[in-house]
Amino acid sequence: MSDKLIIFDTTLRDGEQSPGASMTRDEKLRIARQLERLKVDVIEAGFAASSNGDFEAVKAIADVIKDSTVCSLARANDRDISRAAEALRGANRARIHTFIATSALHMEKKLRMTPEQVLEQARLSVRFARNLCADIEFSPEDGYRSDVDFLCRVLEAVIDEGATTLNIPDTVGYAIPELYGNFIRTLRERIPNSDKAIWSVHCHNDLGMAVANSLAGVKIGGARQVECTINGLGERAGNCSLEEVVMAVKTRRDYFNLDLGIDTSQIVPASRMVAQTTGFVVQPNKAVVGANAFAHASGIHQDGVLKARDTYEIMRAEDVGWSANKIVLGKLSGRNAFKQRLQDLGVELESESELNAAFVKFKDLADRKSEIFDEDIIALVGDESVSAEVEHYRLLSLSQHSETGERPGARVTFAAGQIEHRAVAQGNGPVDATLKAIESKLETGAELLLYSVNAITSGSTESQGEVTVRLQHGGRVVNGVGADPDIVVASAKAYLSALNKLHSKAERVAAQG
Ligand code: KIV
Ligand code: ZN
Repeated sequence: MSDKLIIFDTTLRDGEQSPGASMTRDEKLRIARQLERLKVDVIEAGFAASSNGDFEAVKAIADVIKDSTVCSLARANDRDISRAAEALRGANRARIHTFIATSALHMEKKLRMTPEQVLEQARLSVRFARNLCADIEFSPEDGYRSDVDFLCRVLEAVIDEGATTLNIPDTVGYAIPELYGNFIRTLRERIPNSDKAIWSVHCHNDLGMAVANSLAGVKIGGARQVECTINGLGERAGNCSLEEVVMAVKTRRDYFNLDLGIDTSQIVPASRMVAQTTGFVVQPNKAVVGANAFAHASGIHQDGVLKARDTYEIMRAEDVGWSANKIVLGKLSGRNAFKQRLQDLGVELESESELNAAFVKFKDLADRKSEIFDEDIIALVGDESVSAEVEHYRLLSLSQHSETGERPGARVTFAAGQIEHRAVAQGNGPVDATLKAIESKLETGAELLLYSVNAITSGSTESQGEVTVRLQHGGRVVNGVGADPDIVVASAKAYLSALNKLHSKAERVAAQG
């Protein structure tokens, strides 16, 4: 049995299924590049057959990623599998991940198929996929709640057809660590050809045990691949969190005795990028990547850490990519220094015109904020307006007035395509007035589900505010993020960014439909 643990990241597929976390092609590409820097073994880039947008995203990622295997999800049918193979054609290393539900509940109520039909479809699909790609992963959806005898028959059949990885999802997050670990072990012990494939775990976090279940699948069950997402992003309570699994295996190597290919110093940059792109902020006390994960507040702890770090620290902050807030650039920094800093941060902009757009924004920010930190630069390049994607709505100018005893008002000028709108409105506060002004012209009718403000760098009121806005309209939920030292401006940017996403026509179907 191999002692390498394969890290399969599904932030761009299962993570993206979280309502409001959908990403554009360029956003996915940027995250895929970061995942490659993190050295994940497999990047599940999307579900190519679900929409043209997802097909294009998988294809773009397959075309540029060289070191990680690029994978596409596909339902167990020829059309989905062909589409996945087509999107992956340019990949250095490609994997097709095909799935069909095997629990009695899903087969009867969702698929309306008999177990024998499901078995046959699984077998034929893996056979079909294997003719298009050498690396085939098969998942029995809702596997953990499936009848074990039936599951053994399905898994044995797909190994015979050439499946190279078998993934056992706890689709609804129902498992308990010991039981899940034993379940994987039972399957491996009972299936005669089980040694011909790598076993994988895929756990959802509904009961808060996705990481514990995955680790039990590895330790007790002998799985050698973990499927996970950055920040545990994913539907409902999310997926198994990559950073937690990786740091558990690394920190407790004495117990797991497994090797990892991951460059852990890229964990925090990846976490920030995903949070910023999706608008799903990381809770401060989240393990490994939360802002407080390495902050020792109590006097006793501080004293201990100052005397000897390992009194209270089991991991080093710098090993997972935390760097103290550093002033990196200022008003007088030139284009070359800016470009160099982007390179040091591992940010690759697609073209010179994107670099120029980012530099103009940097200069604008440096005029208003004396100290520019790495976090500011990352927020700046995450801004939609420096990406190559078309921005339909753009903020042109904003003024607002608030005074004690007066009702606040805002005057907003923004572009919608070629049309320039000038809007004025009053509201309960300057942010409310600003969003009402925009709506007075557009009348989108979008419902505001979430509005949140975070300081990008802590400890100073000079920090930029990062605003996240979540909108729902026509059955779609999108997040918009905007950053600016002025939080009213950041709010307007975030609102327009969410409207830009609603404006993009891309339609998606749920992976587990
Ligand atoms: O949770 C699940 O069952 C899945 C499969 C499609 C692998 O995400
Ligand atoms: Zn899943």
